[in-house]
Amino acid sequence: MKQKILITGGAGYIGSHTAVALVHAGFEPIILDNFCTSEKSAITGLSKIIGFTPIVIEGDCNDPQVIESVFTNHEIQGIIHFAAFKAVGESTKLPLKYYHNNIGSLVLLLQSMEKFGVKNLVFSSSCTVYGEPKILPATEDTPRQDAESPYGNTKKICEDILVDVTKSQKGNKIISLRYFNPIGAHPSSEIGELPIGVPANLVPFITQTAIGKRERLTIFGDDYDTLDGTCVRDYIHVMDLADAHVKALSYLAKQEDNFFDILNVGTGNGNTVLEVVKTFEKVSGQNLNYQIGPRRPGDVVKTWASTEKITRVLGWKPQFTLEDSLRDAWNWELKLAKR
Ligand code: NAD
Ligand code: UFG
Repeated sequence: MKQKILITGGAGYIGSHTAVALVHAGFEPIILDNFCTSEKSAITGLSKIIGFTPIVIEGDCNDPQVIESVFTNHEIQGIIHFAAFKAVGESTKLPLKYYHNNIGSLVLLLQSMEKFGVKNLVFSSSCTVYGEPKILPATEDTPRQDAESPYGNTKKICEDILVDVTKSQKGNKIISLRYFNPIGAHPSSEIGELPIGVPANLVPFITQTAIGKRERLTIFGDDYDTLDGTCVRDYIHVMDLADAHVKALSYLAKQEDNFFDILNVGTGNGNTVLEVVKTFEKVSGQNLNYQIGPRRPGDVVKTWASTEKITRVLGWKPQFTLEDSLRDAWNWELKLAKR
């Protein structure tokens, strides 16, 4: 029998790609999503890739009745908890919206796991917890810093909750994955990122500029202490990230009760904004209209992941290059233009 894995937020960007990876690894995904920041078209797209329509429950994972019915009706063996709000700017204006959804849903899930005897959980955390790391690459032991936004704080608080729950010896087995910068799309272009409004993130802004939805990309500062003066990030293909979730779940199954660990998910390489722009131009054949603008307040200057731990623990290594990621992001934008 295939293991049933509850994917909260499974219609979202990372969740939909992970659903595909789970099916290919022999798991059965049960998607729970209220489509507050995603579209039903993601389900159509992922169904095309996997060749069938998975179980999709439309509901709020912060609603006790919804969660109760999911656990009652499906024999869930593991959970990947993606569902959360993630807009950093909005979180500074509406912090309670973020605390309520991101923290409330985790607490409810953990309560239900205890009630229904489900032990395994993979949680979506972020490299944002490291802030500006003093030493690079950032390892899992790099000290966390005060969050720059309520969104970032929800990730820190959620991690703290997971530590406390593990200490309380209820039998849980939990991995918190700290994602660096997920980009790209499934190589089939059936699913990808669907930003709401004007994208805050670099890669969707680049592809939307190239397709003509945005006039020009503004690079936020070129006077930082980096190779070319622009900020450095660790950009990881979303299918590599998806694969890390599958491996994390399989790893959890082999652990003793009361297990908690943290793993970075990045490539181990840092790229500047200008390198990303130049690589995009190369793989897409497009000339990107861009200008240098002022620094963005709160931006981390340089961050990239140490991948030593995740490679050692999960045997996971990224398979896609930055070129692959940007080519897939561009093909996805071209596909969206035809809708
Ligand atoms: P996304 O917005 O594309 O997906 C989130 C999904 O969760 C959406 O489908 C949304 O409808 C759903 N959702 C939100 N609240 C819900 C609720 N209460 N009930 C049911 N469904 C709900 O975001 P994403 O990029 O796929 O991010 C997934 C997770 O990864 C989030 O926890 C995010 O904070 C984390 N993360 C993302 C990034 C990134 O750059 N994308 C980086 C680090 C961490
Ligand atoms: N950038 C631009 N112009 C833009 C958009 C971004 O120059 O229009 C630059 C930024 O200044 C930064 C880099 O591109 O130097 C990457 O910016 P993103 O906003 O794409 O990514 P961040 O690393 O700044 O933040 C993202 C998410 C956070 C999350 C973090 C780590 O927005 O929520 O990754 O996962 F916490």
